[in-house]
Amino acid sequence: MSLPRPRFHLTPSRNWMNDPNGLVFTGDRWHAFFQYNPEGNDWGNMSWGHASSADLLHWDEHPVALPHRPREQIFSGSVVASPGDTLTAYYTSAYDRGIQAQSRATSVDGGFTWTPDAANPVLDRSSSDFRDPKVVRIPGGGWLMLTVEAVERRVVFYASDDLLAWREAGSFGPLGPEGVVWECPDLVHLPVEGTAERAWVLLLSTNPVGDDADPAGSAMHYVVGELAGGVFRSDATDLRPLDHGRDLYAGVTFDSAPGGAAVMLGWMSNWRYAHVVPTAPWRGAMSLARTLGLRRIDGALHLVQRPVLPPTATGDAALLTVEPHAVIEVAWDPAATGAVRVRLTGEGDATVDVVHDPGARTLSVARTGSAAEALHPDFPGERAAPLVGAAGALTLVIDGPLLEVFADDGATVLSHLVTLGGGPLTVSVTAETAVVPAVRVSAVGDITAQEGPAAPAAA
Ligand code: FRU
Repeated sequence: MSLPRPRFHLTPSRNWMNDPNGLVFTGDRWHAFFQYNPEGNDWGNMSWGHASSADLLHWDEHPVALPHRPREQIFSGSVVASPGDTLTAYYTSAYDRGIQAQSRATSVDGGFTWTPDAANPVLDRSSSDFRDPKVVRIPGGGWLMLTVEAVERRVVFYASDDLLAWREAGSFGPLGPEGVVWECPDLVHLPVEGTAERAWVLLLSTNPVGDDADPAGSAMHYVVGELAGGVFRSDATDLRPLDHGRDLYAGVTFDSAPGGAAVMLGWMSNWRYAHVVPTAPWRGAMSLARTLGLRRIDGALHLVQRPVLPPTATGDAALLTVEPHAVIEVAWDPAATGAVRVRLTGEGDATVDVVHDPGARTLSVARTGSAAEALHPDFPGERAAPLVGAAGALTLVIDGPLLEVFADDGATVLSHLVTLGGGPLTVSVTAETAVVPAVRVSAVGDITAQEGPAAPAAA
C-alpha cells in the first residue's frame, strides 16, 4: 500500500524530508527550508531543500538551497532576515569525522542562492552532538542562538549584536526523562490570551536513544519560563508535551512573521518508524502551520496552537463520505451526549477512532487495521491526552496520511500519521446517548451525506 500525497501540507515532490529548517517570512512569502536527501527516499546526504508559499497551504518547491558537500552534511538550523534584505542562515555542519559544529551562510536573493562563510565552521566545540542552531531576535535588540548539546540534554545559548560574533551566555538543562537526546530548540515570546502579558517558552524535541529506547519514539515538548542575561530559566520540574500524538517533531517557528506572531511548522513523523512510512517517491511531510499562544488554565500557563486551515465548502450530517483531504468540525453539547466518537474508515479495515470523553476528561486517537500493523510494530495503537476543558468541539484535519486533531480551543492537540489510504473516507459520529451531534464538515473535495443519522453507540 502506498499512502496518498497531502494536498495542503508541505511535502517534497520526491525524496526524503525531515525537520523544518530556516523558516522565514520575507518578500511577502513564507519560505521553508528542510532536511532533505536530494538523492533518495531515505535519510542521508542531508541538504537543505526549499519551498515557499503565499498562504502556508499551497507550496512551491524550489531547487536545493544548501547541498551536502564532500565529508559534510548540512543538518538543521535557522534563517533570520537582517537589515538590508540579507538573509543569514546558521546550520550544523555534520562532518564525516564525527564532529558537529555551526556554520553560517548568507543570501541576497531572498533565499534562493547562498554563500557559505569562508571561515566555516564559525562555532566549534569539538563536540560530536552540538547542533540545531536557532537564532532568535531579542526584544530591545540583539540576537540569541540556541543550540543543543544533544546527549547532555542541554540547550546552550550564545548572544550576538551583529549576527557574526557570538559569546556563550549559559545553558539550560538537563530536565525531564533520561535516555533521550535533545534536538531542535526554539524560544518564543508568547502573548497570554486576554491579557497584555507575554511569557517566554522554550520548544524542544526529544528522541529516545540507547538499547532499551522508549518505543513511543520522538516527541515535542515545551517549558514556560523567563529570559535573563541571555539565558532561559524556569522553575518547571518537567517538560510538558506540546502535542499528544505520535507524529509531531522538530517544530520551530518562522523568523519575521507578520505582527511578530509565533508560527510553527513541525515534521509529521516519528524517528521510530519514519524510514518505513509507505509513500513514494516522496517521504516526509510538515504539519499545518500553527500560531502559538498561551492561555492561563487553573493558574498555569498552557500552550495553545491554532492551525492555518484551508478554505473549504461545508455540509452537515452525522454520517458522510469525504475525500481524504478535509477539515471535519464537530460541535455538540457534551452534557447531552456524554462521550462522542468520530470514526474515520478508509481502505480495507483501516480505522481511526477519535474519542472525546468529558467524563474521563480524555481525548484519544487510535489507529487500527492491517495497514497500520504492517507499517511497524510500534505504529498501531491508541494515544490519549488529558482534556483541559469541557467544551464539545473538535477540529479534525485529514490530508492523505496526515491527521491533526485540535480540541480545547487549541490547548489539546494530537498529530498522527494514518493509513486510511487514498479513497473516500466514511466519517461517522456517534454518542453515548441517543443524541447525535451535528457535524460540520468542510471538505477540500466533495462531501456526500449518507442516508440517515449514525446509530447511537457506546463511544
Ligand atoms: C532532528 C535531527 C536534528 C538533526 C537532523 C538531521 O530530527 O536529528 O537534530 O540536525 O535531524 O537530519
